[in-house]
Amino acid sequence: MHRVMSRFLFLLVCVALSIDILNGVQILGLFPEQGDTLSHNPNVNQSGHWTNQCMQMFRAAIVLASDYKIYVDGQPIASTILNTNIESNGFAELELVCRTMCNRTDSDIVGVVGPASSTKVRYLGPFAARIHLPLISYSATNADLDDAYNYATFYRTIPSDTLLAEAVVQLFNFFSWSSCIIILGKDDYGYGGLKILSEVYHSNLSIQDRLIFDLRLDKFHANLKETLEKSRSRIVLVWACQNSTTRIIRHALNDGLIGGNYVWIMTSKIVFNGFKQYDPTKLAGVLAVVHIIGNSSTSGVNETLQKEAFDIWRNRPYEGKKAPEKLSDVSPFAMYTFDATWALIQALNKSSIDKKSPSMSKATSCFDSSLQNYTTYFDYLQKTRFFGVSGIVDFSKNDLNEDNHGGMYVLYSVRSKGNSKKKEVIYEQIMTWHETSHSWTNYTNPDKLNIIWPRNPINTVPTDYPQLQGQYLRILVIEAPPFVIIHNFSNQGHFSNNINNVKHNNFRCEPLETTNSNILIYGFVPDLIRILQSQMHFNFTIDVANLSTDYHSLVSLVANDNRQYDIILSDIRITSSRLLKVDFSTPYHENTFRIITRPNPYSTSFSLFSCFNPFTWDVWAAIFAVIIYSGFIIYIFERHNIKTEHCESEFKSILIGICHAMTSILIMDGNIRLSTHSSRITVLGLYALGIILVATYTANLSSFLTLNRSQATISGIDDIKNGRLPFSRIGIVTNSAVSDYYIQNISTEYEPLSTIEEMYSRLLDHTIDASIWDSSVLEYAVNNYYCEKLIIAGVGFVKSSFAIVLPKNWLYKRDLDLHILALRETQKLESLENAWLRHRTCPSSSSSSSSSNNENKEDNSKTETFSLDVLGGLFLIFLIITAIAFCFHFWHCRAAIINGFRQTKKRMRLPTLQTTIKS
Ligand SMILES: *[C@@H]1O[C@H](CO)[C@@H](O)[C@H](O)[C@H]1NC(C)=O
Ligand SMILES: *[C@@H]1O[C@H](CO)[C@@H](O)[C@H](O)[C@H]1NC(C)=O
Ligand SMILES: *[C@@H]1O[C@H](CO)[C@@H](O)[C@H](O)[C@H]1NC(C)=O
Ligand SMILES: *[C@@H]1O[C@H](CO)[C@@H](O)[C@H](O)[C@H]1NC(C)=O
Ligand SMILES: *[C@@H]1O[C@H](CO)[C@@H](O)[C@H](O)[C@H]1NC(C)=O
Ligand SMILES: *[C@@H]1O[C@H](CO)[C@@H](O)[C@H](O)[C@H]1NC(C)=O
Ligand SMILES: *[C@@H]1O[C@H](CO)[C@@H](O)[C@H](O)[C@H]1NC(C)=O
Repeated sequence: MHRVMSRFLFLLVCVALSIDILNGVQILGLFPEQGDTLSHNPNVNQSGHWTNQCMQMFRAAIVLASDYKIYVDGQPIASTILNTNIESNGFAELELVCRTMCNRTDSDIVGVVGPASSTKVRYLGPFAARIHLPLISYSATNADLDDAYNYATFYRTIPSDTLLAEAVVQLFNFFSWSSCIIILGKDDYGYGGLKILSEVYHSNLSIQDRLIFDLRLDKFHANLKETLEKSRSRIVLVWACQNSTTRIIRHALNDGLIGGNYVWIMTSKIVFNGFKQYDPTKLAGVLAVVHIIGNSSTSGVNETLQKEAFDIWRNRPYEGKKAPEKLSDVSPFAMYTFDATWALIQALNKSSIDKKSPSMSKATSCFDSSLQNYTTYFDYLQKTRFFGVSGIVDFSKNDLNEDNHGGMYVLYSVRSKGNSKKKEVIYEQIMTWHETSHSWTNYTNPDKLNIIWPRNPINTVPTDYPQLQGQYLRILVIEAPPFVIIHNFSNQGHFSNNINNVKHNNFRCEPLETTNSNILIYGFVPDLIRILQSQMHFNFTIDVANLSTDYHSLVSLVANDNRQYDIILSDIRITSSRLLKVDFSTPYHENTFRIITRPNPYSTSFSLFSCFNPFTWDVWAAIFAVIIYSGFIIYIFERHNIKTEHCESEFKSILIGICHAMTSILIMDGNIRLSTHSSRITVLGLYALGIILVATYTANLSSFLTLNRSQATISGIDDIKNGRLPFSRIGIVTNSAVSDYYIQNISTEYEPLSTIEEMYSRLLDHTIDASIWDSSVLEYAVNNYYCEKLIIAGVGFVKSSFAIVLPKNWLYKRDLDLHILALRETQKLESLENAWLRHRTCPSSSSSSSSSNNENKEDNSKTETFSLDVLGGLFLIFLIITAIAFCFHFWHCRAAIINGFRQTKKRMRLPTLQTTIKS
């Protein structure tokens, strides 16, 4: 370091010669020595290293300029090539440039082609800007260098990494991927890529994990295998130079991470020669997005210029290095080098024609030197736009033309070729991305691409999230018919169920094996596991939890770090407290709580007033009112006749009217002769009312008595809340969703039970009176095991969902969720529910109904008793009929009434007459 510094200081004070001779201008070319590793050189013919090709094209441009007689101040443009060490940083380049610049015997430096890497531009760029020396790079792609403030005189002919990032992000969009793991080389190129992706494209592409690879140490900053396995993405994007990418792929091959669940995308083409010791076919399916040079139609390449350049190279081989036969063997960097040199030459030519060519004022110190009369030169440089050998070269930094440099990227897929004896791998071109259209062209359907995806038999595009396919799952279940029914060969299960008897409604029952060879399980959950397995292709083992395990501890079994099980399936509810510890899949079944109790033996045989049940009290009141009312009006209508016939008291005649009304309603037969039309109409109305009421009552009473036959002591959760049963007689399974609900909403007092098993047995031996559990489980038990002995009371309450218990942040949650939802959408879950939950072996006369009848029953219980709302119309019609009867009555008796009215009037007038006479 000391030596370098002193050498540099010496240069800075290099002595100026007194005589300033006019010795023409020259262009400096900065090229790395062969074997520079830190730039991401693409696949080129190894026999002609890319730096050699660059130097050849640099020289060709200079020679072509003199062939075209492009002279500056009467002299041809000279050139100097400076080779830089691979190990050097940009400081060495700076030193070299300074040393050459201060040489008074040398011609003036008016432009630099290079340097090769972005890191070196970071050193040289600000210095060049200060002394107004243009730099045109052919391979520095970092997007930071677009900063016109720090790098005012920096240009490049190669597109910046922003374009590559855009192509890569659009490739992700094309395949419907939105996440990736990025592996970057620990250099300017790698970090630059990460910066663009996370700053510009963070909304399009989420980087789930990042790994940094240090080529010098040949190490990742974290464990490759662990990072990839734990990542939520399965798309690995390698953003590194060629040598780093080669090493990264080699590490991945060692760890068996290629060709598995991961899709690898590289940004450079690696050379397969280095993979001789591995099976090269393992690399099949690896993708690479690589920049290529197009032709005249796609990228605007000037083929005349290209041909002229290559003719020079072929005719005047420099240091004996021949030009490649095929154009595809030429590195794109060589093309960019030519265009960079050609851009400088053109600007020099134009400013020289204007007689305003620049010159270098050489001072004693490197920093005091600077380019003179550069304005015109820079104007031309800035306006550079021509069709070069690599495409359109355009230095104007306005946004209008920015989009059209004709950049092209190609997606390659690695494919193995050849027979079993000699296998080799090749790159196959899949599609192209054009800067002009900003899209991957010609393919609309990603599934039709000629890509052999790893591990995807049907050859669809793999997903970017982890898939369960090929994974090994340890599943834990707990007995809960009908979700999990256990068949134990050693002792006949807890539920007296013979496996041969279980021929569910046209549904084949196939038990699943568990880790215990004595135990088979069947039911809803095993069928669900089987369906999921057939679609997701995972391997699994099933363990059956001890029945005494409570549900909360069961759930927390997957919350531990060193868990024994991956997923738990059974009748496990999603609750808020559980969700804090574990995750749940999307629900596979909806459920409610219901109350189980014994049928009440007294409810049917002894009920004094049960005959009144078919009507509500207001209907009864209305009937009573109608009887009284019609009695009165019949009395009014028949008053005269009754009086004349029987000569009885008025009170008695009212009673007779009431009797009449009652007999009309109930017996529909009157023994009293009716004389007036009005009372006949009234009785007709009563008659009709009676028929309807009696019919309704009769029909309803019978259904009411049938339904009532085995009614429970309590009718629902409200009875429990209101304390109709002592809390100590309510059995609650502890540490379950039910006990959480019960303690929060009802009481802290209850009879603790440890298992559902215990719940049934204690109900049967009368030590508890009621209990609460999931409706599906209770209904199944009552419909299949405890036919008439236990019943379910009331309607379901507290709706919630059963779901698969998963560890927190489980990798495969998304895959599982999507498949469960797909099962719901294709009605497979529904058919499972039909097969298992609706199943009943009890005779169907049993009152307990399955959950499908649940709502019907609820409706029934409401319509069972008829209220006045329902029957009100009937009474109204009757009122209207009596109103008509009144009209008849008034019409009939109009003479008598008018008479009566007159007589009253007379009587009123008579006293007045008398008084007038008296006076
Ligand atoms: C200056 O340039 C001349 C010719 O280009 C060369 O011979 C000489 O060694 C250079 N001097 C230094 C100090 O580099
Ligand atoms: C980089 O790769 C080239 C061959 O492409 C090889 O010669 C060189 O040694 C490599 N450099 C490192 C540091 O691996
Ligand atoms: C292509 O290059 C040749 C030779 O330099 C030149 O004469 C011609 O004008 C160029 N064509 C275009 C379209 O720029
Ligand atoms: C590489 O170039 C040399 C000569 O330039 C040629 O003989 C050889 O076939 C080329 N190799 C490949 C793989 O293209
Ligand atoms: C170059 O600039 C100097 C002053 O910086 C001026 O004297 C000279 O005339 C200019 N030469 C040309 C050709 O413009
Ligand atoms: C792409 O499409 C264009 C026109 O639609 C066609 O001319 C060209 O041959 C296609 N290219 C490929 C590779 O299919
Ligand atoms: C999964 O099961 C298949 C056959 O069903 C077997 O070939 C494969 O080795 C198993 N994989 C694991 C990881 O157990």
